[in-house]
Amino acid sequence: MTVLLAENRQNSERFKMTLGESTVVIRNGRELRDHLEAHPEEVLVVIGPEFTLDVATQVVEYYRATRPSLGFILIRSRLEVGTMTAAMQSGVREVVSADDASALLAAKKRSVSLSERMVDTSVYQGPVTKGKMVLVFSAKGGCGKTTVATNIAEALGAGGDKSVCIVDFDLQFGDIAVALQIEPTKTISNAIRMGDNLDLSGVRSLVMQYRPNLYALLAPVDPSDIEFITAELAEKVLVGLQQTFDYVIVDSPPAFTETILKAFDLADEYLLVSTLDMPSLKNLKVTLGTLDALGMPRAKWNIVVNRSNAKTGLSIQDVQDAIGMNISATIPAHQIVPTMINQGRTVVSAKPRHAVSKAMFNIARMVDKKMSARRPGAIDADRRSMFSRSARGGK
Ligand SMILES: Nc1ncnc2c1ncn2[C@@H]1O[C@H](COP(=O)(O)OP(=O)(O)OP(=O)(O)O)[C@@H](O)[C@H]1O
Ligand SMILES: [Mg+2]
Repeated sequence: MTVLLAENRQNSERFKMTLGESTVVIRNGRELRDHLEAHPEEVLVVIGPEFTLDVATQVVEYYRATRPSLGFILIRSRLEVGTMTAAMQSGVREVVSADDASALLAAKKRSVSLSERMVDTSVYQGPVTKGKMVLVFSAKGGCGKTTVATNIAEALGAGGDKSVCIVDFDLQFGDIAVALQIEPTKTISNAIRMGDNLDLSGVRSLVMQYRPNLYALLAPVDPSDIEFITAELAEKVLVGLQQTFDYVIVDSPPAFTETILKAFDLADEYLLVSTLDMPSLKNLKVTLGTLDALGMPRAKWNIVVNRSNAKTGLSIQDVQDAIGMNISATIPAHQIVPTMINQGRTVVSAKPRHAVSKAMFNIARMVDKKMSARRPGAIDADRRSMFSRSARGGK
């Protein structure tokens, strides 16, 4: 059942129509507490626009500590960046406009599904379903990793019913925040301050929502934080995100850092990006040799040639001959890519029919198909137990 917190009769009728007849309408915080105490099975509270942001965030903060699997959706008459940021920081899962019934319904669906997963992790001892993780990597800078990562994230989230989180593991020079024009009020640095208390809800609190089903975990603003982001922390964060989102897309620096090695370990598919030039090709060969030496399964490798139509004197065939394997996908070079970045948008969202977008959708479909063909994911026991203490703590 959904609980709707609405004082105003007109609002309660209107939102109940969207949320479903079985929705329970509650008028104030006290009634809400009584209802939730009597109904531990409730997983979703929708807060109507007549409640001020202060009141709403106080309610959410209270339940976030005592009942982390309970989701909150906030309805606002007008969507403003400041409101969304403050709401998300308090633990609200989604903020939707009062005029957008379909967004409300989609947010309800996502929140209920997320709560079910959270409840599962606290009581279910078998395998926990995990989101699919894709790592985008190249040992050479400027090949198009961030371009691929952001556009693939958009492509996998297109349609709105799957949740996607893009992770900026280019910790020193990461530019996901700039590419998507997100004000980095929260970054992975917040995890450092949580120390050993970093639990599943802590990991979930690190991400920023930039569209209804698209989220980002941003790189530190202060480069001095990087030394504290260890492989252990990276693992905890990635496993927590896998338990939260349908897809996790990891962007990387042009180097095998300890956090990236952990991402290689956890990811289901690798998009190994190269361009048609000798330095890039040389680095691709070194990367493949390193991955072999580290025992990273070849079944996960996908070689992507970016700017594939550039006249460089090197052809796709030359690349295939040099590395001894086939290219999985190509992306054409086009001015639209930097133009969109400068506007804080992705080509996939702004021009979904463009040749660059078609290439990105193809890559998204390709990796999704490969991941789906495998046995449904399960997070192994050791990794699941990272959060078992905290997940059971609330029970
Ligand atoms: N297919 C393309 N067509 C035109 N320009 C492109 C294309 N792909 C990437 N670019 C441009 O190339 C530049 C580098 O791309 P991007 O930032 O994605 O690379 P990167 O591998 O993430 O770089 P870094 O190693 O610095 O993180 C950007 O200005 C981007 O707009
Ligand atoms: Mg980059």
